[in-house]
Amino acid sequence: MTGRIPLAGVVGSPVGHSKSPTLHGHWLKQYGLPGHYVPLHIEADDFESVIRTLPKAGFVGVNVTVPHKIRALDIADTSSKFAERIGAANMLTFRPDGTIYAENSDSYGFLAHLKQSAPDWRSQDGPVLVLGAGGAARAVVAALIEDGATDVVIANRTASAAEDIASVANCSTVDWSDVGSIIEEMQTIVNTTSLGMTGMPPLPMNLSGLPAGQTVMDLVYAPPETELLARARQAGCTAVDGLGMLLHQAVPGFERWFGVMPEVDAELRRAVLG
Ligand code: ATR
Repeated sequence: MTGRIPLAGVVGSPVGHSKSPTLHGHWLKQYGLPGHYVPLHIEADDFESVIRTLPKAGFVGVNVTVPHKIRALDIADTSSKFAERIGAANMLTFRPDGTIYAENSDSYGFLAHLKQSAPDWRSQDGPVLVLGAGGAARAVVAALIEDGATDVVIANRTASAAEDIASVANCSTVDWSDVGSIIEEMQTIVNTTSLGMTGMPPLPMNLSGLPAGQTVMDLVYAPPETELLARARQAGCTAVDGLGMLLHQAVPGFERWFGVMPEVDAELRRAVLG
């Protein structure tokens, strides 16, 4: 560190929707720390050149959002195990020696939130169903495997994407159209698709077979209570919302760049929900 006030931010295109400035701003104020966290709109063509100017401008690191997460991993000098496994980075840290270190905190965010919201989710070692096979699903599957889950089943509208993840992570797949018929056998269900989000259709499968006792997590956080979560609650399942993952995935960056491990609490939730 140079003794200057640390600067960090989020880079993306678009970036205006990002909750990261609110989250980090809330924590900087809560802990009374010197520092600033700003949104930076960077087009894809300018990504690498702008990133390389940031350390000189006093930036210690940035979060990375759409569409730069894969490129962020490519330009880094070194990267974490999770970033490698996921094939994308959402954090870049500018080291004093001039090198760039890439990480992905989505797996951390997913597990931290799940463990906080459903502490006994692993009390029976039953199968975990992951719906979707995009970037978020990669992070969820990597986290599940790291945490010792041995039976992870992936279902996706485009079967080849599910098979790609399954072959690398040693999981199984099930046809998208068959999900309704196996849902009862699952111990945990995680929706990583955008279905159920405001403006998108709900998940198409019949959710009436959800048995009490399952843990059901939806990564969708707008609306906060999706149809999947409402059904899960009605059925007596533990319903885990998506906002917490978003909040927890910001923790590693804040700790690395501003030096304090921040709390994810009700006040933070309120700040982010506005
Ligand atoms: P993210 O980074 O949030 O995971 P993504 O990589 O674009 O975003 O992945 C979106 C996921 O939602 C994918 O699994 C996608 O399925 P496909 O691989 O078949 O595209 C899923 N998804 C999006 N819209 C969908 C729809 N209308 N029906 C079913 N699945 C959908």
